[in-house]
Amino acid sequence: MSKRRPLVAGNWKMNGSRAESAALVDAVRRGVGPGARVEVALCPPFILIPLVAEKLAGGPVSWGGQSLDTHKSGAYTGEVSGPMLKDYDCAYVIVGHSERRALYGENDGVVAEKFGAAQAAGLVPILCVGETLAEREANRTEAVVARQLDAVVNKHGIASLKNAVLAYEPVWAIGTGKTATPQQAQDVHRFIRGRLAARDQAVADGLRILYGGSVKSANAKELFGQPDIDGGLIGGASLNAEEFLLICRAAD
Ligand code: 13P
Repeated sequence: MSKRRPLVAGNWKMNGSRAESAALVDAVRRGVGPGARVEVALCPPFILIPLVAEKLAGGPVSWGGQSLDTHKSGAYTGEVSGPMLKDYDCAYVIVGHSERRALYGENDGVVAEKFGAAQAAGLVPILCVGETLAEREANRTEAVVARQLDAVVNKHGIASLKNAVLAYEPVWAIGTGKTATPQQAQDVHRFIRGRLAARDQAVADGLRILYGGSVKSANAKELFGQPDIDGGLIGGASLNAEEFLLICRAAD
């Protein structure tokens, strides 16, 4: 069991009509008590953020964006900036999600810039790292995760992680139903924390590192029971309120 306050964040990805999302967010809000140890957050598509913000305002559940642009404003058609997310009281924003890296060409340099843009806007970045199946099979998991982490830490300093959350999401486990075993996940989480502890023990001790990749109510408790796993970043299962709330309870 983690020493840090667990966080379970739902990443809806590009899913949900207005009506479905309203019902989902209402159910999550009803299901999360004000005294819960676990912190719960929802990251809907940009266009649903006003709806989610209105419904969650004043309650215990936070919300955030799934991405942001590196610029504050200007001629960047189709993009949304950190200050815009902050204007809707987002607490969090996901950066470096594997889908952004793989499908939209966001390399380590862009991810590091987005991390900085998030913090500059007063948002807490949820920085995603993780290896592909080919990288795992080539025994490169630690090297890949280290490279992804170092891109951010070398640019912004270790202290920047005081105001951030990490998410380890092995690409081969995302949306595939193939969860990392609790031991596989714990091994990488411990590696991450150890690598950061070599730079600053206190920052490493305080940092929440979430696991993401086919988390469901059936496997959440065992994953969240690992000493270096501080909650989860939940994709598919966050679209079902009952299932998502069971996952939140498993972290409580
Ligand atoms: P799934 O839970 O659908 O595997 O997605 C994980 C993820 O990518 C969350 O960001």
